Amino acid sequence: MKPILLDLPVPIITPRLILRPPQIGDGVVVNEAILESFAVLNEFMPWAKEKPSVEESEEFARQAAANWILKNNDEPYLPLFMFDKETNQFIGGTGYHHYDWNVPSIETGYWIRNSYAGKGFMTEAVNAITQYAFKQLGVKRITITCDIDNIRSKKIPERLGFILEGTLKGNRRKPLTNEISDTLIYSRYDLNNLPELVVTWKNHNE
Ligand SMILES: CC(C)(COP(=O)(O)OP(=O)(O)OC[C@H]1O[C@@H](n2cnc3c(N)ncnc32)[C@H](O)[C@@H]1OP(=O)(O)O)[C@@H](O)C(=O)NCCC(=O)NCCS
Repeated sequence: MKPILLDLPVPIITPRLILRPPQIGDGVVVNEAILESFAVLNEFMPWAKEKPSVEESEEFARQAAANWILKNNDEPYLPLFMFDKETNQFIGGTGYHHYDWNVPSIETGYWIRNSYAGKGFMTEAVNAITQYAFKQLGVKRITITCDIDNIRSKKIPERLGFILEGTLKGNRRKPLTNEISDTLIYSRYDLNNLPELVVTWKNHNE
């Protein structure tokens, strides 16, 4: 099937979160969260070299919203914005990138705003999108890559039972210092032993 014809039902709902594609008008809240968390993002996220303006964050939201229709396999791929189910506050971003619909396989990444860190929200979100990837997208493989020194990031796949497949030596630079670093590759090939979490989306347990 042509990727543009894939139906991807959203939102994805977990006990504490709503995950949905970016929409027109999200720029303001996303920008606020990026600025709040800039020091942390700047250390590991290549896209966070400079503080974005509200207009740049809005541009990202609109391009991402369009790509949920087009499914182009390039920036900004298929991001999902995370919202606190109780307060509707914007919490952070995750989603899918570098998909290969032929295998099919997919990668994911994530960031969380400072005020919501350390409460397990991102682990919950990645659990949810892992379930969605296998059950809805039908992937055979999902991958998380991170800098070897990104301790908080690597704890997420470890907590969720991903396998450390390998270390790519000296294949990246740290965005902040430009030092050469190593990449860890974590993968899952099925949902076996994923920590239990009730996750729903349209036509799936609803
Ligand atoms: C990577 C990043 C998302 C991790 O955020 P995080 O807040 O540590 O992750 P979670 O939201 O899953 O929270 C996990 C923490 O909450 C704690 N926690 C509290 N309640 C919890 C619950 N109900 N379930 C799971 N964990 C819980 C965990 O013990 C853990 O703390 P610990 O690591 O001190 O043990 C964050 O550091 C970040 O945005 N970094 C910048 C961007 C980045 O590097 N992204 C990754 C690129 S590869």
